[in-house]
Amino acid sequence: YGDYNQKIDYVFKVVLIGDSAVGKTQLLARFARNQFSLDSKATIGVEFQTKTLIVDNKTIKAQIWDTAGQERYRAVTSAYYRGAVGAMLVYDMTKRQSFDHMVRWLEELRGHADQNIVIMLIGNKCDLGSLRAVPMEDAEEFAQRENLFFMETSALESTNVETCFLTILSEIY
Ligand code: GTP
Repeated sequence: YGDYNQKIDYVFKVVLIGDSAVGKTQLLARFARNQFSLDSKATIGVEFQTKTLIVDNKTIKAQIWDTAGQERYRAVTSAYYRGAVGAMLVYDMTKRQSFDHMVRWLEELRGHADQNIVIMLIGNKCDLGSLRAVPMEDAEEFAQRENLFFMETSALESTNVETCFLTILSEIY
C-alpha cells in the first residue's frame, strides 16, 4: 500500500528509556504493529522498529529504539543516544520506584543526547488505575520543572499510545 515507493522527507530517531518491565517494548509493539503481549520478555541489547507517518503533509519515518531497562542487558549507551531527536522516559504508574528513577534516566539522557532533544515523560499501565502509586500531580510537577511533555498511557488498552508518539514526532518536526 502507501509505503511503496514513498518519498521520505525526514527520518527521526526516538529512544525509549526507563526501568525494566515498565512497558517500553509493549508501547513500541502497540505503536508500530498494533500488537500487545502479556508475557513480554526482557529486552536484551537494543532493538528498533520503524513506522512511516504523514505529519503536516510530510512523510516522516520514525525509527524507534528500545533498550533493556536491566543494567546487565544494556548495550553501549552513547551509541544508543546518538542522533536521537526525541526520547520517551517511561515509568510504570503502579511502581513508585520506576518514577523515582526518572531523575537518573533523565540525567543519563541529558548527559548523552543532543541539547535540543524533545522529551516526553510517560506513565504507562494506566489501565491498572486501582493500583496507582504515582499521583498525576507528582508527574505533572516533575514534567513542568524539567520541561518535559507528559502523558499517561496503556499499551494494553491502546490508551494514548498513538497520541504520545504523534505528539513527540510533531514537536520534533
Ligand atoms: P525491559 O525490556 O526489561 O526493559 O522491559 P520493558 O520496559 O520493555 O517492559 P515490557 O514491555 O517487556 O513489559 C513488561 C510487562 O508489563 C509485560 O508483562 C507486559 O505485558 C506488561 N505491560 C506492558 N504495558 C502494559 C500496560 O499498559 N498495562 C498492563 N497492565 N501491563 C503492561
